[in-house]
Amino acid sequence: AAELRVDLSAVLPGTQLTVQWQGRPVFIRRRTAEDIAAARAVRLSDLPDPLANNANLPADAPATDANRALDAAGEWLVMMGVCTHLGCVPLGGAAGDFGGWFCPCHGSHYDSAGRIRRGPAPRNLPVPRAVLLDPVTLQIG
Ligand code: FES
Repeated sequence: AAELRVDLSAVLPGTQLTVQWQGRPVFIRRRTAEDIAAARAVRLSDLPDPLANNANLPADAPATDANRALDAAGEWLVMMGVCTHLGCVPLGGAAGDFGGWFCPCHGSHYDSAGRIRRGPAPRNLPVPRAVLLDPVTLQIG
């Protein structure tokens, strides 16, 4: 099967686990309250890509923070670790100017919801099909 199960029990708030799925990195970020608050304070009109880019939602779902996170509280953010410009792997750890990820290849800045904010990348980092089977077990795919 193409599904991947991931044990989240050792992932602390403010850290990221990277796993490989279908030959590509997937970032699993356990966000802090500050990460969530910052992402939820952003106006949609400030987003270069207005779409959630979330495989679990309709294609036209807007890029609200709630439409990017996996759970209702917004603690878990799961997305492909592949820059939407030319496919480099962005750096995490609150990197870049928007507290999220930074792609060093050509300077794309993503926020704490993985949404492109500045630079050449055209789209938000894609959220793959994913579900929490229980509070500490993630299924991707
Ligand atoms: Fe990320 Fe070009 S591949 S900015």
